Amino acid sequence: MIKPSLRGSIPSKAEAISEIASLTRPPQFLAGKFARNDVKAQRSGMTVTHQVWMRCSLACAEQGRGLTHPNPMVGACLVKNGKLIAEGFHRFFGGPHAEVEAIRKAGKRARGATLYVTLEPCSTYGKTPPCTEAIKTAGIKRVVVAAVDPNPKHQGRGLGILKRCGIRVETGILRREAELQNEAFLKWVKTKLPFVTLKMAQSLDGKIASRTGKSRWVSNVQSRNWVHRLRAQQDAILVGKNTLLKDNPRLTVRNGKLTKTPWRIVLDERGESSPSAHIFHASGVSVLACSRKFLSRVSKKFSRSKVTLMALDSSKGEVDLNQLLRALGALGIVSLLVEGGGEVAWSFFNAGLVDKIEWILAPKIIGGRTAKTSVEGVGINALDEASKIRPTRLTLLGDHLLLEGYVRS
Ligand SMILES: NC(=O)c1ccc[n+]([C@@H]2O[C@H](COP(=O)([O-])OP(=O)(O)OC[C@H]3O[C@@H](n4cnc5c(N)ncnc54)[C@H](OP(=O)(O)O)[C@@H]3O)[C@@H](O)[C@H]2O)c1
Repeated sequence: MIKPSLRGSIPSKAEAISEIASLTRPPQFLAGKFARNDVKAQRSGMTVTHQVWMRCSLACAEQGRGLTHPNPMVGACLVKNGKLIAEGFHRFFGGPHAEVEAIRKAGKRARGATLYVTLEPCSTYGKTPPCTEAIKTAGIKRVVVAAVDPNPKHQGRGLGILKRCGIRVETGILRREAELQNEAFLKWVKTKLPFVTLKMAQSLDGKIASRTGKSRWVSNVQSRNWVHRLRAQQDAILVGKNTLLKDNPRLTVRNGKLTKTPWRIVLDERGESSPSAHIFHASGVSVLACSRKFLSRVSKKFSRSKVTLMALDSSKGEVDLNQLLRALGALGIVSLLVEGGGEVAWSFFNAGLVDKIEWILAPKIIGGRTAKTSVEGVGINALDEASKIRPTRLTLLGDHLLLEGYVRS
């Protein structure tokens, strides 16, 4: 039995290591490539050693999950004579980078050590001075990196600086694991679009509510706690207008280590939501994505509310999702959690905008031909048009099953 995912909470070191181990279990589509890596690793004892320490750095990085926005998670270990002398991770945006934290903890012992770091050290002045300087000054003799900086402006720059200082540099050790760990950040840096996760809780017969529209509760306590941890890792959470009208959800994070409140977004072309809905009154940012055509009417209705109106193109009652994602990406939203309902889920799948799914299966039958299913819309004609999912993990949450997977592009 696989234990519930710990992502979103701050795990202990042991939990982090076991978490990263499961996080990096290669999905089916990567299995061949990992197998080849393993063969290579067995040929070279050094590669195996590098992998062990890099795994430790990945586990350190994992402790920053949900806390570093809009920066990536990064972890670092300093190793000398086969022993770990210090470790660090990026704890919060603007805080010390992982390498610098490890170097500070190690003090003079850093001289002559090997640094294992999950992402290429930075080489420019940002919120903090460049890590390449700290590495040079500390007298580190070798730097092993998992993934290079995804930003084309900086890619390879830090590595070049280190090499020119006579530091041995190796890259690509557990690169795929490091890229998976920062999948949302990587997508956003490359495309300026948020990474979209669609979460749904459905009965075995595919229903997300009863025929009277009651969805409390399809899921159990463990699943709901898990959803709160998932929310804590997101920059924004989105629902459709009908979900707001039927459920009046708060979309807040009620557990998980929170350093920010995810934005709450409702899709509502004509602004039919009630200004007194919970999401418009909780702390943090609430956005109503409506149609440009109805903006003046909607702004009048919400004039006394602190909701932010986002005016987008729309057609047949649906706001333009591509435009919405571009706008959110430009505002620094790296990750977006779509929480339904069925119409919204269909729109996101139909537009090819879902990156990952988190599907909770409740062992119950709800029935009813008019009860909402997890994906509504007009659907497809032929089965080969279906959105295909590459499952990567099955987890038991009490007596509920959680299926995680990626949408095949
Ligand atoms: N079990 C779960 O995990 C779960 C999660 C969420 C919701 N629910 C349940 O699902 C039910 C609501 O689901 P639903 O399918 O009826 O509605 P929904 O997906 O919550 O909302 C759909 C409505 O949002 C508006 N909208 C604006 N832009 C859109 C776009 N681009 N794509 C799609 N919709 C857009 C449209 O309203 P107009 O056309 O009227 O403007 C549309 O009818 C409720 O009973 C709720 O309790 C269950």
